[in-house]
Amino acid sequence: MNSERTRVLTGITTTGTPHLGNYVGAIRPTVQASRNTATEGFYFLADYHALIKCDEPARIQRSTLEIAASWIAAGLDPDQVTFYRQSDIPQIPELTWLLTCVTGKGLLNRAHAYKAATDKNHAAGHDTDADVSAGLFMYPVLMGADILMFKAHKVPVGRDQIQHIEMARDMASSFNHLYGEHFVLPEAVVEESVALLPGLDGRKMSKSYDNTIPLFAPSAQMRKQINAIVTDSRAPGEPKSTEGSALFQIYQAFASAEETAQFAQAFADGIAWGDAKQQLFERIDREIAPMRATYEDLVHHPEKVERLLLLGAEKARARSAAFMAELRSAVGLRSLAVQSKVKTEKSNKTAAPSFKQYREKDGQFYFKLVSPQGDVLLQSKAFASPRDAGVAISQLIENGEGALAALQTQLETITDRQRGEVLENLIFMHLNSEN
Ligand code: TRP
Repeated sequence: MNSERTRVLTGITTTGTPHLGNYVGAIRPTVQASRNTATEGFYFLADYHALIKCDEPARIQRSTLEIAASWIAAGLDPDQVTFYRQSDIPQIPELTWLLTCVTGKGLLNRAHAYKAATDKNHAAGHDTDADVSAGLFMYPVLMGADILMFKAHKVPVGRDQIQHIEMARDMASSFNHLYGEHFVLPEAVVEESVALLPGLDGRKMSKSYDNTIPLFAPSAQMRKQINAIVTDSRAPGEPKSTEGSALFQIYQAFASAEETAQFAQAFADGIAWGDAKQQLFERIDREIAPMRATYEDLVHHPEKVERLLLLGAEKARARSAAFMAELRSAVGLRSLAVQSKVKTEKSNKTAAPSFKQYREKDGQFYFKLVSPQGDVLLQSKAFASPRDAGVAISQLIENGEGALAALQTQLETITDRQRGEVLENLIFMHLNSEN
């Protein structure tokens, strides 16, 4: 039975003040998901990623505090999940390098964010890579390390991030193919019902469009910003369209289906835009207000947040350090002492494959073929006498493939993969028996 819980992991880049779009798209759904006790949650502040987009140290620090405080204020329980800051886990940049070495450069050339930057340069007649940092180019590998380090099964993300999860799968497969099954192949989870929130101007709410409404702005400021949401010029009493209305979409992201239906009815009935904005403000405030005190307390006591993050980092490092040790060894970054010992053991004891003959408690005679590494490659069924078993062994050594077929009923079933290895070893023994 597999009692391992499904691991869910996601991060938020620490480049700005959390806004309603972050809340609806990332913070709120992850808090809800974290309450599912059938899963194990990993939630982190992607501050290494922030360096790719932001060169203002104070802003990165402030954003880390604000996003962490928002997550906790919204209900994330650091005791129930692993909640940490990416840069507290030194194994993440370490894993980034191992993954870099198994990631095709061509794969990274096709990353949407990098392609968008180079396309823009082409259009402007600039050098392909003008103003593109190697950090931007490597963004998907760092993200792959985030995900693969904790063997995440599910990664909740926005639609724009799906490609990055697919790339992480590619990296995991290449690595596993080369070095054995170490990584879990992650899957992106895109919540269809999670709204892409429009901003003040109707485009996607985003720092880069400067059209955001901060999540924990003081009430008065939030009211003012909601009043600034762009609407059309329909007068009070004129029916209004919900279609394409940013105001309506934001309302919907906070309201129940019934509330939304009532709001749509009010639009049809010609509600004044001022009244609609008031209703929107009240609906958002109803959800956010209870969290505000916790948020304010944490932001004014950064040392509390720091303490939580350090505790989380310890939890995370307990896994990442152990896993990294396994990965280092897998690729050959090993202690020389251990390596030479392994070699000596091998050359002394089991440098060659061998047949072992033995008698079981049932009184019958058996043999098995053991690889130089000590794995059982072939297992016989029972023989009446040691001589019969010995004859079968000689036939196998003399006449590898043919004997394997002829003796089929005398042998336990082997897979095609084992068959190749068995034959290799039989050929080796055959060649050695000739001298
Ligand atoms: N790139 C993500 C974003 O901008 C943030 C992120 C970094 C992330 N590492 C991650 C998300 C790992 C999920 C998993 O939204």
